[in-house]
Amino acid sequence: MLAKRIEQNRIDLQEGMAQEVLSRIEGENRRYFIETYGCQMNVRDSETIAGLLQRMGYLPAPSKEEANVILFNTCCVRDHAEKRLLANIGALKEQKEGDGSLIIGICGCMMQQADVAKKVMRRFPFVNFVFGTNALWRLPELMLGALGGERLILTEEEGFAICEGLPARRSNPFSAFVNITFGCDNFCSYCIVPYVRGRERSRALSEVVAEVRSLAEQGITEVTLLGQNVNSYGKGKDVDFADLLRAVNGVDGIRRIRYMSSHPKDLTPRLMAAIAENDKVCHHMHLPVQSGSTAILERMNRRYSRESYLNLVQDLRRTVPDIELTTDVIVGFPGETEADFQDTLSLMDQVGFAAAFTFKYSPRKGTRAAEAADQVPEALKKERLKRLNDLQAVKTTENNKKYLGHRGEVLVEGFDRRSETILFGKLDTFKMVYFPGDEGLLGTYQTVSVTECARNSLLGRME
Ligand code: SAH
Ligand code: SF4
Ligand code: F3S
Repeated sequence: MLAKRIEQNRIDLQEGMAQEVLSRIEGENRRYFIETYGCQMNVRDSETIAGLLQRMGYLPAPSKEEANVILFNTCCVRDHAEKRLLANIGALKEQKEGDGSLIIGICGCMMQQADVAKKVMRRFPFVNFVFGTNALWRLPELMLGALGGERLILTEEEGFAICEGLPARRSNPFSAFVNITFGCDNFCSYCIVPYVRGRERSRALSEVVAEVRSLAEQGITEVTLLGQNVNSYGKGKDVDFADLLRAVNGVDGIRRIRYMSSHPKDLTPRLMAAIAENDKVCHHMHLPVQSGSTAILERMNRRYSRESYLNLVQDLRRTVPDIELTTDVIVGFPGETEADFQDTLSLMDQVGFAAAFTFKYSPRKGTRAAEAADQVPEALKKERLKRLNDLQAVKTTENNKKYLGHRGEVLVEGFDRRSETILFGKLDTFKMVYFPGDEGLLGTYQTVSVTECARNSLLGRME
């Protein structure tokens, strides 16, 4: 009780500081620009940051050049993200020299690493503040500090508590991300996420349902439930992910429920049944396999084997016959032999994923795999990645063919980048279909028939 009151006091204090920022800055100087890297967690966090800035009177700027506040929400899951970020921060030097009042902040997973946060502050004296993934709610304090000329680092947030009730400025008017768990306890041996996102915590079922209900009231019809491993939702509570799906399925106004990611080790028959039984739950699962070799999976600490993964896929397809699967794969994990890699290729061939995100293994400081002596040379990683992508391209095309003549409902999401008359929307199975139509259809559900399978996409027409 007391802890809760102290927590509330701290949040109220932030609200006061937000008002203070609002009163100090002229209206026309309140424009922000957020550049987001990494996964959906970061996309969702950026929506919270935007919501907080909005409370301080800020509006979105059309470009970095027109902004008074620029924030980079960073990712550190692989190496290239870091290099790109440092270059992008460096590029802001000139803008800051031209406008001393410009506020620059860096946040997100990479900043949760205290040494990197310090390095950024040292290397770029024009950066006003950095904060980690658990300090989002303290943005008003950071903004106020910046106005007073302070340079602050907030990376260590004790306890990693869940902070409910923060505002959000949603980026999509029809479809919304909803956090259900934060952090990760799995410690896959290659992965930095558990170190930068903390231990796994589940939001209360009632909080998730209340958020979904309020989204539905605002006209949102599709929600994507987010967690590093949604399948383990409710750990330590008396509910699980199957219960949550049932509860969200009962929210009026919601038509589609998506979720990601699923860890194979926690995919139970009970959960498969919940997917089959609840009509709003979409028939798509992102089920990262990472490797097709049991020996490598063991070294990755994934806690399933090639055989058990293949069995899961079989059970899942038996329970939900038209379910579409997508996956993540890493090539060149330490010790990966040609035979191990062949196992990955054959698994990919056997399963026939609708799509795969493929990565070269990237050593992350502080993770177990980074210490391994048998690192795979870069050239070999590159070669394997190409072979894997070539195979997946064939599998994607093959899989697309089954949609020829298919009729299904899509949620119309936007226009094709190169056209003002071609719309796109996703089928229940996450497959994207392009078809002719006009602006009035955005946000609606339409039945389309697939008339053509291009290499990577499906073309169709409205019924
Ligand atoms: N929690 C999610 C994934 C988070 S990271 C899950 O477990 O499914 C997204 C993907 O990045 C991972 O699935 C993995 O394929 C890849 N990845 C993570 N760490 C990596 C590393 N060190 N090198 C290369 N790829 C990595
Ligand atoms: Fe990383 Fe593994 Fe956790 Fe996914 S489940 S975030 S890959 S440690
Ligand atoms: Fe990157 Fe953090 Fe997501 S490290 S992949 S943004 S959880």
